[in-house]
This record gives sequence, structure tokens and C-alpha cells, in this order.
Amino acid sequence: AVVAGTVGLGVGVAATLGTQTALQSAQKSQPKDEAQPPLIGQRVPFFGSRQAGIETPAPTYASFVAVDLNNGIDKDGLERLLRILTDDAAHLTEGKTPVVDQEPELAQVAASLTVTLGFGERIFEIAGVKKPSWLQPLPAFEKIDQLQQQWNDGDLLLQFCADDRLTLAHAQRMLLKDVRSFGRVRWVQEGFRRAYGSEKPGQTMRNLFGQLDGTVNPTTEAGTMNEYVWGEADSLTPWEDGGTSVIIRRIHMNLDTWDQADRPAREDAVGRKLSNGAPLTGTNEHDVADLSATNELGFNVIAPYAHIRRASAQKPEEHILRRGYNYDMPVSDASGFSEHGQTSGGVSNSGLIFASYQADPVKQFVPIQRRLAELDMLNTWTVPIGSAVFAIPGGCQPGGFIGEKLFA
Ligand code: HEM
Repeated sequence: AVVAGTVGLGVGVAATLGTQTALQSAQKSQPKDEAQPPLIGQRVPFFGSRQAGIETPAPTYASFVAVDLNNGIDKDGLERLLRILTDDAAHLTEGKTPVVDQEPELAQVAASLTVTLGFGERIFEIAGVKKPSWLQPLPAFEKIDQLQQQWNDGDLLLQFCADDRLTLAHAQRMLLKDVRSFGRVRWVQEGFRRAYGSEKPGQTMRNLFGQLDGTVNPTTEAGTMNEYVWGEADSLTPWEDGGTSVIIRRIHMNLDTWDQADRPAREDAVGRKLSNGAPLTGTNEHDVADLSATNELGFNVIAPYAHIRRASAQKPEEHILRRGYNYDMPVSDASGFSEHGQTSGGVSNSGLIFASYQADPVKQFVPIQRRLAELDMLNTWTVPIGSAVFAIPGGCQPGGFIGEKLFA
């Protein structure tokens, strides 16, 4: 039960090539890039039955902001806040100036900006509406978690994505000014991918371990996005029409110890090739992994502890949309480097903002995470240090607002 992406752009590099040669031939055999249109004209529609920023292509930059609402915010206050946020987000994503914008020039380049809102448990309490049953902190994954309160939970999520860092900063500032009298920022997680234009559209992103990350993901083309993210699979039901959920796990990646693993060990840990992301049993990125294949000694080609074996679906509904972003923070004790059991003196403070979208976290995400917590070679280098779950409401039409169904 593999949900293969349909945007395969693998370059078919033979596994036997040495590191340098493999990289060079990967570059040579890339088809010539089509020119990408200038960013200035790029817009992602805000209005619709589903919010943008999930199924839409992931731009270069993301900022995930969790807000805690003040005590005393009532249902009317919440509605007011959601109306203002919706209105400003709609303007900004169209490259238009919101009503009160002290730096109107910064709003003019939309650069594929999306703003996506997510709700923590408290929003449902304030609205007096039953929350989705799965909306609560994830169970503890004791063998791996080293969660830090500074990256956990939150009442309201604002997810910003854009291909221009200045656009993103401005949008974030505008919406946080809206929030100012309703609550305070709990955490901000900033991430990035490759710059706009440096790869062909649709190319699977690379994480800071150098791996293609996001190959086996639901897609619009295959209809699997509708099934697993928007809950149209037989065994799933979305919490509201056009709604879904997001889990944001902040996962530290220890690049300093990853440096000590050679290329075969790195590929063995995941079960895929670093060059083009092909499974160790295949040639191209989107070849289906053969988990039963054995080598001449009778050992599994994709090891029992390999990340893709452990993460692959055991039940039909166990599929998630991974739309993560890299983070790379300054190295200093004050920035948190030594807080997760590391000795200081390393040269990295990096990881993945692992953002996973699915109709039902308990049915889809938790079983995968449980298996990975039990056994996954990647755990040698990775540590979850933050965790948050939000319900993502459906989209809205002009005149409406995100979250309006809570007030119907
Ligand atoms: C696959 C990296 C954490 C779920 C992969 C692949 C890589 C990767 C390189 C193979 C290519 C692909 O299909 O994307 C990482 C890294 C992680 C991490 C570096 C942490 C820093 C997680 C977590 C989960 C997860 C926390 C879920 C709880 C999956 C799934 C697949 C996958 C479902 C596809 C498995 C399949 O082939 O069916 N990951 N991953 N990963 N990962 Fe992760």
C-alpha cells in the first residue's frame, strides 16, 4: 500500500557510482529547467472550500507561529479575531494592502504567500463547540521524545509560506499585530527549502541530511490527497468539510554525528539512495520499494531498521502528507544546542520542522510514529524536541471567514 508521487523527476543514477561521480552525473542528466515565471506575479488563491498552504506547492520559506489566547476571550472576541485575520490574509496573499498597513509597499509582492489557520483545543472551548476527538497532545513516545515546552502546543496556529522572505516577514508582522490584543506568541518556527527557481517545480525537497524527503506522499493527481488529507478514504472522515489536521514536530537532526556516517550507512539507515532517492531495490525515485527483496547472503536489501520499512503503511489509512521545512539555527548554548543532551562544541543546531497533514492524527500518524519510536535507524541522529496538534478548518468564500462553521 504505497502512495507514490506522480511528479517523479528521478535522474536514474546507478547505485554503484562513487559519491562524487554520482553527484556529477546526477547534475548532468537533469533535464534542462524550464524558466520559472517571475515571482512578482505569483499568487495562490486564498478563498476556496479548503485553505491554501497544504495541497498547494510548498514555497521556499515557512513560518509556523503558535499563539496563546488571553484569558477572558469570549466567543464574540474569537469571531472578531478570525474575521480580521481572514481579511488581512486575503489581502496579503493577493499582493494587496490590508486596511491598516504601515508598510504598504511590502505587501505588493505576494510571492506565492499562503496563510493557513489551525485551531488548538481552546478555540473549541471558547466557541462552545465539541472538538474533534483526536485534538489533544500526542501520546508520549518515551524512547525518543525530548520535548521542550517552548516548542509544544498552542491555541491558534498561523502558518505562513512564501517564496520571498520579506513578504513572509511582513505578512507575519501584520497578522501578529492583529493578534496583539487577543493573545501572545507562544512559539515561532522558521524553516526553508531550496530557493525559488533553483530546482524544477515539483522536485522533492532535500533535508539537511541531504536526503530527498517527501517522495512517498499523497498527491492530487492520484486522488490520494483527497483520501488521506481531506478524509475521503472509506475509513476516514474529516472533522468538518474541507478541514484536516496538522502535526508539527520539531525534530533536531544531529549533523555533527551524521558527519561520522559514510554514504552506504546513510543509505542503509533510510533504505533509499542519496543521489536520486530511489529505493535500494530500485533505480528511480518513484520506483516502489521492494521490502521483501534479499541479497546474496539472504539479508533484506532494505534493512529491518530502515526508516522507510518502519514508516510504510501497515493499514490502509496509514498515510500522511509530509510537507516539512528545514531549520538551521545559530550555534550557541543560548540557542538551545546543548539542551537536548548534546555536548557543546558542535557546529550545528539544525533539524526539520516536520509538518504532517492528515484527516485523523490518531488513525494515520500515531501508528507510524509508534513504530518509528520503537525501531528506526534514523533515531540515531534525530530527536523530537517539540510537538503540537491543530485542527485545520475548511476555507471560506469572500465575505466569510476562516472558522465560520464554529459560529453557525
Ligand atoms: C520517508 C526522512 C521523520 C514518516 C522518509 C524518507 C526520508 C525521510 C529520507 C524517504 C523518502 C520519502 O518517501 O520521503 C526523515 C527524517 C526525519 C523523518 C530526516 C526526521 C528528522 C519522520 C517521522 C515520520 C515519518 C517523524 C512519521 C511519524 C515517513 C513516512 C515515509 C517517510 C510515512 C514514507 C514511507 C514509505 O516509503 O512508505 N523519511 N523522516 N518520517 N517518512 Fe520520514
